[in-house]
Amino acid sequence: MGKLADKTAIITGAASGIGRASALLFAEQGARVFIADRSEAVREVAAEIGDAAAAFIGDAGDKTFIDGLVAAVTAHGPLDIAFANAGISGGMNRLLDLEVSEWEEVLRVNLIGAFLLVQASAREMMKAGKGAILCTASVAGIRSGAGGSPYSASKAGVINFVQTSAYQLSGTGIRINAICPGVIETGMTQPMFDMARERGTEGKIGQLNPLKRAAQPIEVARLAAFLVSDDASYVNGQAVAVDGGLSASHPVVPGKIW
Ligand SMILES: NC(=O)c1ccc[n+]([C@@H]2O[C@H](COP(=O)([O-])OP(=O)(O)OC[C@H]3O[C@@H](n4cnc5c(N)ncnc54)[C@H](O)[C@@H]3O)[C@@H](O)[C@H]2O)c1
Repeated sequence: MGKLADKTAIITGAASGIGRASALLFAEQGARVFIADRSEAVREVAAEIGDAAAAFIGDAGDKTFIDGLVAAVTAHGPLDIAFANAGISGGMNRLLDLEVSEWEEVLRVNLIGAFLLVQASAREMMKAGKGAILCTASVAGIRSGAGGSPYSASKAGVINFVQTSAYQLSGTGIRINAICPGVIETGMTQPMFDMARERGTEGKIGQLNPLKRAAQPIEVARLAAFLVSDDASYVNGQAVAVDGGLSASHPVVPGKIW
């Protein structure tokens, strides 16, 4: 049996990219996956997985949708795993041009969306005295250089929210962690990859990390599957980077220091 055998998991943002890869991997490892996305394409992911999956269409930043999703899942049994992964980049508008509405939408989806799933899941998991929660943050939440200011601030917020939540959930048996992906080829970053391939500069993507490449969603999904599994039973309140080593260094001119 797989490492997630008999576990029930909710994953948001599962129609594409990291969420989709995680849904496929969690199911392969034995979990029943309840996958949510605002895109209808999540139904195709559920169909690909088969009987172990059910799809829900809705907005991860909407309390009514998330509460309804958690209620629908827990009506059939306990919830073991919640993965708040849905997110938007919000574009790269510069500081002097940014509108309040851009901040509001990015924070609503990326940060409040994480809060909604964490809160609703934790309430249910407390009944069983155990559970594993995971949130997708980003290297953008660690320092500058990987997204616009609302996006980076939202992901820094997710990291901090995970840290405070680990303590808010003291004594409940629930673990909560974050993952911080670097450059991953997904729906969110596809335009950058497409443009680079068109220009013949694909090799430059990821050139600043020591592995000198971007990653595929499955490489993030494997970390996610570990963190929500019992193998990570003592990992709590952490933000784990999956970025080829990018966030391990201050920025340096390649070749000048070593
Ligand atoms: N791709 C990267 O390089 C990268 C790096 C760091 C962090 N991340 C984070 O990874 C997570 C997954 O993104 P991805 O890279 O797989 O991109 P993606 O665009 O391929 O997948 C994101 C999914 O989230 C869904 N979504 C967006 N807003 C939603 C909402 N309000 N309600 C429901 N679903 C919504 C989208 O429809 C999409 O299916 C995001 O939180 C993103 O910020 C991505």
